[in-house]
Amino acid sequence: MIELRRPLTRRALLTSAVVVLSASDETVAAARKPKTRSTAPAEPIFPGTPLPIPRLVDLVDGATFDLVAETTRHAFVAGKPVDTLGYGGTHLGPTLRVTRGTRPKVRLINRLARPTNVHWHGLLVPSSQDAATHPGLRTGESWETRLDVDQPAATLWYHAHIHGRTARDVHDGLAGMMIVEDAESAGLGLPSTWGVDDIPLVLQDRVFDEAGRPVFEMTPARVEHGFRGPDMIVNGVTEAVAKVPARLVRLRLLNAANARNFRLFFEDNRNFRLIATDGGFLREPAELSLLVLTPGERAEILVDFAEGHGVLLTGPDGHEHRSGAHGAILPDVIDRPARLVAFEAARDELPTAKVPARLAGSTALDRPPAGVRRRRFELRVLPNPAASGGGLDPHAMHRSMTRGSVDRATETDSAPPLLLTINGRSFAMERIDEKVDLGASEIWEIVSPDMAHPFHVHGVHFAVLSEDGGTPKAWNRGPKDTVLVENGAELLVTFAHPADAARPFLYHCHLLEHEDGGMMGTFTVG
Ligand code: C2O
Ligand code: CU
Ligand code: CU
Repeated sequence: MIELRRPLTRRALLTSAVVVLSASDETVAAARKPKTRSTAPAEPIFPGTPLPIPRLVDLVDGATFDLVAETTRHAFVAGKPVDTLGYGGTHLGPTLRVTRGTRPKVRLINRLARPTNVHWHGLLVPSSQDAATHPGLRTGESWETRLDVDQPAATLWYHAHIHGRTARDVHDGLAGMMIVEDAESAGLGLPSTWGVDDIPLVLQDRVFDEAGRPVFEMTPARVEHGFRGPDMIVNGVTEAVAKVPARLVRLRLLNAANARNFRLFFEDNRNFRLIATDGGFLREPAELSLLVLTPGERAEILVDFAEGHGVLLTGPDGHEHRSGAHGAILPDVIDRPARLVAFEAARDELPTAKVPARLAGSTALDRPPAGVRRRRFELRVLPNPAASGGGLDPHAMHRSMTRGSVDRATETDSAPPLLLTINGRSFAMERIDEKVDLGASEIWEIVSPDMAHPFHVHGVHFAVLSEDGGTPKAWNRGPKDTVLVENGAELLVTFAHPADAARPFLYHCHLLEHEDGGMMGTFTVG
């Protein structure tokens, strides 16, 4: 249990409210100093590393922002800086903020040794403004686009999306948060001071070697179940500690893990308010004490730190595998709740925000129109008849995706033991799987007979109509673009943005090893 001690002094709060990614090693060392019984004023309430806050960049109407993919140095584990990847000189990237009704431009510049592209996950723009199906910029090349921003306020993200390499690239740091603002959200009176009472939390899990380097190795088990590590990182650091004001605070949560579902709750089991899902605000806040976020998903919650310090935990993520009537639970690499972030609450002079009774509300459809078209997508993990030895050769799958130079990724060279399929087929970029009419709404029925999959669709928002034949879970009742499909789900999808056959939109499992393995399809909208 966590001891509650005297509140932090105002000075302590001011000096630590916003910590940039380059927190000095002295800061880190001071924060990790073991607790003693002394009442010296510098004594930390929680040992750990100050939570880094990504730089917030406002994309300006008509102007161009350079998003530079490059290598950088970063200490995931305090005191152990290593080579890693990111954008603009930081591991992960800056948070890009865009405003509804503006048309800023972004130029992606590749200074990596590997090819790269970028997908704006959750941004509702024509496929021509998204590089997810771009085969990849070579070193030194750049790609520029305008972004026609026209959607409600929401927390989104961006990440590299090269087919077959997304798991490794996102693991290595090619991801960042993106925020859409609009006039309604500004009028809600929500906490909105970046890094103080409006705090981004990029949640990931890793395996570290002794040097503090994140290790990414592909094995058939990893391809089948996804990569899950025992060490939790938030905004790129282990043992994160955030200083927060002792009042209402907004947390923007992003699950940027390869495969882990974060099962989020506070150590004292306090309630919090869910105010937004992937695509923006709920109609009204939902009071919860547990929130499950699947890879790719976002949520915004309000937490009242007037209730005191809080520790955000994630529970073990064991998952079920089914085969006909048989089911087995695969245990997680962690067997007890793990700490994500400790929040030290201190009073300040500012008045607390109030939880709004109503939020901006989604305008998305949540009732299907008469005569709506239905499509069905069955997600399966199947043994590959073409693989040598009938399947699970531990060395065949992604043979070369092992540890090595941080800025190198090569492709698998032999038949994979498993086929990752949707409706019986693995991904092929040149094949168009579905053709949808521009402006249509459809019901997409997603079925996952073997195991749960996080299903994501590019270029749209959807409402979850049903989960496993019943009412959707509390956290699946807002506007969505990614949802964990445990058995089956019906999604009401509206297609408001065009995509042609040269640049189709994609739908896929967001468990990144499944996506890379081919559990993905293409669709046009026109
Ligand atoms: Cu975040 Cu195609 O995905
Ligand atoms: Cu699994
Ligand atoms: Cu999957």
